Amino acid sequence: DKGGHKHFMGKEIAEQPRVIGEAIRAYMPDGDTIALPDGGFDFTAVDRLTLVACGTAYYACLTAKYWFEQLARLPVEVDVASEFRYREPPIPARTAALFVSQSGETADTLAALRYCEGKASSILAVVNVAESSIARESDLVLPIHAGVEVGVASTKAFTCQLTVLLILALEAARQRGEISPERLADVLSQLRNLPAVIGNALDTDAFAAHVSNELAEAQDVLFLGRGLMFPIAMEGALKMKEISYIHAEAYASGELKHGPIALIDSHVPVVVMAPRDALYDKTVSNMQEVMARGGKVLLISDSAGIEQAGEVWRSITLPRIDPLLTPILYALPAQLLAYHTAIAKGTDVDQPRNLAKSVTVE
Ligand code: F6R
Repeated sequence: DKGGHKHFMGKEIAEQPRVIGEAIRAYMPDGDTIALPDGGFDFTAVDRLTLVACGTAYYACLTAKYWFEQLARLPVEVDVASEFRYREPPIPARTAALFVSQSGETADTLAALRYCEGKASSILAVVNVAESSIARESDLVLPIHAGVEVGVASTKAFTCQLTVLLILALEAARQRGEISPERLADVLSQLRNLPAVIGNALDTDAFAAHVSNELAEAQDVLFLGRGLMFPIAMEGALKMKEISYIHAEAYASGELKHGPIALIDSHVPVVVMAPRDALYDKTVSNMQEVMARGGKVLLISDSAGIEQAGEVWRSITLPRIDPLLTPILYALPAQLLAYHTAIAKGTDVDQPRNLAKSVTVE
């Protein structure tokens, strides 16, 4: 049942305020303190985390690396499961291995998990399907509460993965004494408000549809972001490739001048994700380098960021929120751009060619 939407993907994008709210309530049952399921996890008993996943879930892990390192000062390694499993990396003592998977059945992720059995001090799973193989073989299961996801391109599972990973990083920071009670209370209160903010971001839908008619003409689209926006740029590029079949790549904006800038001309739209945070000025200066070479910039920022940037080709304005929460919010326009570009191109949004919802063979 598509609930009045043309596609499951559209329905699942629209469900995000509700399911993110459910994830938040599940991990903060009393409204203002974090309670992990099944007795929780002792983050003071580990010195490092290894995060492993595939595809969109891997980008959730890359985002979580920033959170765990910045908030909890816990060193994090992130790897794609298909590389991790065959590289057979050493797993130092006091390492927790955490696997992120919507389906809980992805063959490479499951094999990576099995490799860690008996080596990692504990195995955690952030999954949507709580009865899955990955969940069954883990010491602690952390459900994301996204509900069934039908669209092959992951949307609500991604933002729910991010929500749960942020809560875990906050809990790690609290246990390790790296965050003040005041700051923690402040972030948690903003997190409770996030579903409403995400609801407002869905108002950019009409504009995303409009701009996507123009993106649909492109051969290539680049996505740029720095810090927490870099993995979201990668997710935006993956969504674009998957459902619109337009070649899209993401770069850390600081990497632009090390090669990719050679691609820029007036035919290449460049989506720049830059909330007005501590890294904004750096990203905007990379954006100006793109514009100086004729690149067409679509800037996604908050109103202060859009204003300060001056004239760009197109812009999408999002609400201003705490920089820590921006990945969850900025995932929405990334999804909407891909969704509407695919519709403009007439591709099969829910069943893109060559792709399966769950990759149970390697
Ligand atoms: C992208 C997408 C895939 C999955 C990947 C992992 O939209 O859906 O990249 O994220 O195949 O799947 P799970 O999360 O089920 O392990």
